[in-house]
Order: sequence, then C-alpha cells, then structure tokens
Amino acid sequence: MSEKPPGYEGRNLLGFQFYLKHSEEHKVIQGFVDRVLPGEINRIAQRKSQVDILGVGSGGGEIDAYILSIMKSKLPATPLSADIVEPSIELSDHFKALVRRTPSLQKIPFSWHTMTCEDYEKQVKEKGNMKRFDFIHMIQMLYYVNDYPRTIQFFHSLLKDNSKLLIVHEAETSGWDTLWKTYRDELCTKTISDYKSAGDIKVHLDQLGLKYDEHLIPRTLDITACFTKGDDMGELLLDFMTEQDHFYQSLTPELQAGILDLLRNRCSTEIDGRILFDNSLTCLLVHS
Ligand SMILES: C[S@@+](CC[C@H](N)C(=O)[O-])C[C@H]1O[C@@H](n2cnc3c(N)ncnc32)[C@H](O)[C@@H]1O
Repeated sequence: MSEKPPGYEGRNLLGFQFYLKHSEEHKVIQGFVDRVLPGEINRIAQRKSQVDILGVGSGGGEIDAYILSIMKSKLPATPLSADIVEPSIELSDHFKALVRRTPSLQKIPFSWHTMTCEDYEKQVKEKGNMKRFDFIHMIQMLYYVNDYPRTIQFFHSLLKDNSKLLIVHEAETSGWDTLWKTYRDELCTKTISDYKSAGDIKVHLDQLGLKYDEHLIPRTLDITACFTKGDDMGELLLDFMTEQDHFYQSLTPELQAGILDLLRNRCSTEIDGRILFDNSLTCLLVHS
C-alpha cells in the first residue's frame, strides 16, 4: 500500500472544514450540479437497467449525497449503487453518518473503499474484477495524486459506454494557480507533490484524446482575516491554503511576507477594504 498520509486529518481537516463553511463551496458546486446533472442523467441512464456511481475523494460526502438524491428523484424506478473511495477514516465516518440520517439514501447499496485512489487502482488491478460505472466524480481531490494522467486514464477506463467523469478543480485563472506555481518548491513538499490547475488537466485530457465539456465558475474568497496576524481563523485559512500546520511557525519570515504579498497583490482584488481571492472553479465533464 502507498506511504502517503491517509487523506485529510488533524489541522488539515479542521482547515478544510473552516474553508468549506467560509467559501460556501458546496453551495456553488450544488448550483452547478442543479444546472447540469438533470440533463446528463437523462443521457447517461438511457437504455440502462441499473446506474452505478463512483465518488473519488468524496470527503464527508455532502456533494455525493446531493448528486445521489438528484439521481434518485430523476430515476425513481432505476436501481442505483454507490462506491466511495476516500482515504480519511474520519471523513468516511461523517459520510456514513450522513447516509444513516438521510432516508432517500438508505436504500442505495454503498461500497466503502477507505483508501487512496492509487490503492484502489492497485486493488482493482490485482483482483481483476473491474466494476464499471455510469457516473464517476473527482471533486477537488486530484491535487493529491502523484500522476494526474495515469489516474485520469485509469478512472476513465472504468466508465461504461455513454457515461461521464466529472472533474471539479481550481481554475487555471485562479489565485491557487498563481500561489502554488510561484511557490511550488516551498509548498509542494507535503501531500501535494506537484500542483496542477484545471488548465493543466485540460492539457492531459487533450493528450489522452479524451473529449470533455468545460464550465467555469468564477467566484472569490474573502481572505481579509489572513492579513491580521493573531487572527486564529485567518491563520487556519492560511494554513489550509498553503498546506502548513502553522503558517507563522513553519515558514521563514521572508517566505511568509512573500506569500502574503502575493496573495494580496497578485491573487486578489480589494473591494471596500475586503481582500477577495480569486477562487474560481472549473468543472470538466469528460465523455466515456
Ligand atoms: C478538498 S477535499 C474534497 C472532498 C469532497 N470531494 C468535497 O468536495 O467536499 C479532498 C479529499 O480528497 C481526499 N484525498 C486525499 N488524498 C487522496 C487520494 N490519494 N486519493 C483519494 N482521495 C484523496 C481527502 O481525504 C479529502 O477528502
């Protein structure tokens, strides 16, 4: 099995949960799902007696649950199954609890794969029984894989005919792209070994000869608190954005100053005294 840390845990998990609340990211992704998924479901489910869904890096499962409930309401007579690949035990437990308290999900059979997607790939190949899927999603998780093209190619190979792979990722125009590429050497030292934005993923998809539709979701994140030293929430956000345990303890003063300057002047706009970081997302719907 791989030596990578098993998904989000500790301060990283705390930072992620704070980020989710502060950014309203799930609301934004749910808006996209509302706009696009109903039409896709009609196409995906045509002439199929069962629809199988795979979530990769599903976290606490909030978006998975949302997608599954839409599928269920659009396809009331079609049996659904859900496979979940998520290495964090804590987040998988959150997801299982969410399933237990959501009546519409209780009849869907879930298979839990509490492991990284690399270990899932290894296991599938070793066992040789490739379950195939009608809809696979990788929402804000590809940052953590070592080999993007290989991972995309593997999960794409699990699609049935007339099916879709949804990738949601930080946009190539986003502040994340500027931050992580400017400070690649200093930041890509932990679970993210090489930062890539949606622009780089599109290059891989083109090289793999895969067809996709692209949807850009422009949005900002208020990071004003990051510029008040001593603001706990500001530091938690900085930690999450730079993958540090404690920004001010882990990085040299020069590096801290450089990152703060870049965040303010190259990744954000200032409106009415608020510093708004470019937090745009790209959704790629890859065809089977
Ligand atoms: C930013 S979170 C996104 C979670 C969820 N998709 C969402 O949008 O709320 C990234 C997720 O990827 C998981 N993860 C980290 N490394 C992974 C890997 N190698 N394979 C699969 N999932 C991974 C983390 O544990 C975490 O749940």
